[in-house]
This record gives sequence, C-alpha cells and structure tokens, in this order.
Amino acid sequence: MNIVEIIEKKRDRREISEEEIRFFVGGVCDGSIPDYQISAFLMAVCINGMTDPEISVLTDAMAKSGDSVDLSYIDGIKVDKHSSGGVGDKTTLVVAPMAAACGLPVAKMSGRGLGFSGGTIDKLEAIPGFRTSLSEEEFIRFIKRDKIALMGQTKNVAPADKKLYALRDVTGTVPSIPLIAASIMSKKLACGSDSIVLDVKCGSGAFMKSLDDAVLLAQKMVAIGERNGRRVYGIVTDMNQPLGSAVGNALEVKEAIDTLKGKGPEDFTELCYIIGSFMLTAGAKAKDTREAREMLKASIADGSALEKFRRFVENQGGDPSITENYGILPSAAVKRELLSPCGGVVTAIDGEKTGAAAVIAKAGRLSKTDKIDFGSGFVLLSKIGDRVEKGQPLAEIYAPDEKSADEAEKMLAEAYSFGEKAEIKPMLLAYTDREGTYFDKNER
Ligand code: URA
Repeated sequence: MNIVEIIEKKRDRREISEEEIRFFVGGVCDGSIPDYQISAFLMAVCINGMTDPEISVLTDAMAKSGDSVDLSYIDGIKVDKHSSGGVGDKTTLVVAPMAAACGLPVAKMSGRGLGFSGGTIDKLEAIPGFRTSLSEEEFIRFIKRDKIALMGQTKNVAPADKKLYALRDVTGTVPSIPLIAASIMSKKLACGSDSIVLDVKCGSGAFMKSLDDAVLLAQKMVAIGERNGRRVYGIVTDMNQPLGSAVGNALEVKEAIDTLKGKGPEDFTELCYIIGSFMLTAGAKAKDTREAREMLKASIADGSALEKFRRFVENQGGDPSITENYGILPSAAVKRELLSPCGGVVTAIDGEKTGAAAVIAKAGRLSKTDKIDFGSGFVLLSKIGDRVEKGQPLAEIYAPDEKSADEAEKMLAEAYSFGEKAEIKPMLLAYTDREGTYFDKNER
C-alpha cells in the first residue's frame, strides 16, 4: 500500500478503504509514515471531510492503537461523560459526586488542559495533596466502596490520537469535524464505558463556533458510538461566554464546592443538572431526565453530593475540610479588579480571549511543559445581560506577578463588549441520540 496514493485519494474527494485507513493509523504509530505525509493527509481530511464509514473505521483503528480499559468489575451500566472543551468548564467536579450520590458508579479518566480549555486533572491538582495517579487496585477499591474515583490516563490510551493531535495542533487542522469526532471517540471507546454523555460546546469559547457545526459533531459521535456498540447521548450547550464565574484552577474548585452547596452560579448549576440527568437516565438510575433532575436536586439539598465530594477528596489524598476551609487552596500573589470602561449592558464575553487572558495569567498552559499557577485566574462579576456603570468592577484578576496581571487585564478587557440589549441563549441548545435530533428541550 502506498501513502501517497491515499493522500491523493483524499485530496480528490474519493473514499478511502478500511484497509487504507488501518494502514495509515499503523504507519502513524510505528513511525513508518513521516510527519509531512501525515500532515498532508490531515489537511486533505480537514478540507474535504470524511464519510461516516471512514470516520468510524478511523476511530476504531485509533482506539485499538493502544491499551483498552476493562471496567467489567463494576456492576451495571457504565456511563462516562465528556466535554469538547471550554473556558471555565469545571462540570466534572460537580456532576461526578452528584451522580455518585444518586447511585451511579463514576469511574473517570481525565486529561490536562491545553490552550484555552482547562483540564479536570489540573483543577483537582490545585487541591493540596490530591493524587490523580492511582494504582488500578485503588481505583477499583474506591469505585466499589464509594462509587467515585478519578485518575489521569496512565495507560497507553489511543497513542495514535496523541501523535495526530500534536500534528493537528501545529498544522491548522484542529477544527475538523471528522478529526475531532475520531479523536474524542477513540479515547472514549478505549476507556471501556457502555454509554457516553457528550457535551459539545458551541460558541466563542469552544472549538465549534456555530450551532450547525456543533450539532453535526454531536451527530457524528453518536453515529460512531452506534457503529461500535456504545450508546451515545450528544448534547449541545452554549459557550458564548465562560461557564459560571470562575476561570482558573483553585478558583474553579471553590466554585464547584459552592455549587455542591447549592450556591453556584445559575448557568453552571443548570449545565450540571442537564449533564447529570442524561447520565442517570443512561445508567438506568432514573426513568427519564425529569426524574433524574429531581434526584440530583435532592442530592444537593440533603448534602449527599457534597459528602461524596469530601469522601472523593479524602480517598485521593486531599484534605476533606477543604469544603469548609477555602484557605487550604493556593492563592495568587497579585489581585486586582478590571473596571468597566463605560456604562451599558454586557453583550458578549469572548471565550477565546478570556481563555487567552487566563493563559497569560498563568492559569492555563500553551505547551505541555508550561507550569501552571494554581491560584491564578479570574472571577467574572458581570456576565452577559448584566447592566454595569462606568468604573464598576467587571472581574477580579488573580496572577502570580504584576507583569502578568497587567497583560491579562489588557486581554480580558478586550473580551468584553457592551451595548443596549443582550441576547441571552438557553444553556441546552440541542440534543441528539440514535433516534433523532431535537432543538427544543420539550420535544423529547
Ligand atoms: N478534544 C479532543 O480530545 N480532541 C479534539 O480533537 C478536540 C477536542
């Protein structure tokens, strides 16, 4: 088989065969295909797309390029959740203990953040002593006893994706629906769950900027799941501004704990209920999302979700009193406020610019080796739709030094737009599963 012919076929919009796709993935993994040919192939896919059978085979080949995780020791339906990545997205920290408190076992493997999207592992490592590397024996013991454990990916999960993602990152080929779908789903298939709730973010703070693209990505991932024997629920949610108020690791941990106490920001709390209710329904813990939502609300009201979080932190080496004593968390050396340059209504908070500002403040990283300052980030005091006066604080800025605070302040100021009236979108924009796609949540 010849890689040049495969690239040419994709260039000319012809379908490539299963054999050719497996040959390509094999060559990516064993190093026999050089980076320039892999990159040319990726660009051809980025421009010309892939058919559903092509995407499905690519995903399967990537999933089988490394180890797979065996979750058969957990009874019942294993449900995973995944977000396509967004600014201020700390959903797992709330949804995992809520779902566990409602009886669903949550065996989660998560990654670190890169660029504007933060990673759950980084957020948890802001908690002093918290261990994200667990032995398999510990992982299983915690899930069996407490229904919750979370670890970084220790196994060699989908190494083909690691190689392809690194090349996509430097060749302008990240925003390709077939490549994103195969990348996400290859890792999900290798991680062994029966059912997956995918939160596809849509808006300025997400990879998918338009609703059409976000829905298409969700549909592709549902189709890949079905072809590979997994049930996938794709929800498309709004990310036209950062999620909640906190952006930055320790700040997001605090906001997650506040949410578990029933005192979280409205938009973030709503998203947690949406994702949690699909998870409980997928895991057969509730008959429908309405019943699931009531169960989740009860877990907040009776304190059982917060108690699960405390147990989770204690199991993994952190101090459970963190839920009452936020002083345990790292804090930034410099704190200041971003003041509104004018009076008016906040009409937009650009997610990508907010994410870039967070990287400048050292709350996120641009390359894998960058060091994070856990205390850094922002607390947004005004969100879309809020009326502000000139000189009113829009956000608190936390940074390790004055220079990064200056630069982050400048970038964050650029994220805000003002006007007379703002369009406020609902959190749940669309939902798709094997039965269809719905744009109004009452349709289901
Ligand atoms: N998340 C992934 O894991 N892969 C992508 O390509 C994009 C987001």
